[in-house]
Amino acid sequence: MMKENYFDKVAKEWNTPKRNSASEEIKEIILNRLEGERDLSKIKVLEIGAGNGILAMLLSKHFYKIDCVDSSVGMREEFLKNKDEFSADNVFIYDESFLDNITEKYDFIYSHRVFHHIADVESELKLLKKLITPKGKFYLMDFCTIPAEFHKDFPDFDGHNGFSEEEIRTYFKNTGWKLTNYEIIRHGKKENIEYDIFLAAGEI
Ligand SMILES: C[S@@+](CC[C@H](N)C(=O)[O-])C[C@H]1O[C@@H](n2cnc3c(N)ncnc32)[C@H](O)[C@@H]1O
Repeated sequence: MMKENYFDKVAKEWNTPKRNSASEEIKEIILNRLEGERDLSKIKVLEIGAGNGILAMLLSKHFYKIDCVDSSVGMREEFLKNKDEFSADNVFIYDESFLDNITEKYDFIYSHRVFHHIADVESELKLLKKLITPKGKFYLMDFCTIPAEFHKDFPDFDGHNGFSEEEIRTYFKNTGWKLTNYEIIRHGKKENIEYDIFLAAGEI
């Protein structure tokens, strides 16, 4: 029997004030870190695991275009509704097979709270290396190590309980990404569990 996609089930309720204000914060963090880079309005961007697309919509007016991928059909539907609502004509959503067929390269690739759902992190990082321009930037944002209890409501969770800084350094090293910066960018709390979000910046 095919495994149900958890994100298809929660997609319609993903838009919460808490998540939206986190997306606002992440938008500011991204723009602040990219300040001084070449003209952002000319650069092509790729987001991995965009969910309902709120972060991409908030960023859209700053970039030339943002291509997004997400493996959940429910999230992709919500993305398209939000795209209409935001009138964000330069954001696009695809399923994950899009990554296997792309011929263009991106000047900036980012991902927020997604990699802990990806079993084979190194394969994904190797794939993204092929999609970035020589001077491009990659921002991987995700949970620092969290207790297994964090995903107790996620049926058959088979991802990672966040990542330690050492794990991230090892993944980057093993896949040939240069880690140019590692920092904690946010603190949060889910029920009684406190968590941190890191940003690992990479270049090839
Ligand atoms: C926790 S949500 C985060 C969504 C959004 N980035 C945010 O910060 O609100 C994780 C998202 O990653 C997507 N996802 C999980 N594995 C993926 C993969 N291998 N490729 C693309 N998307 C993936 C899920 O469908 C889901 O929408």
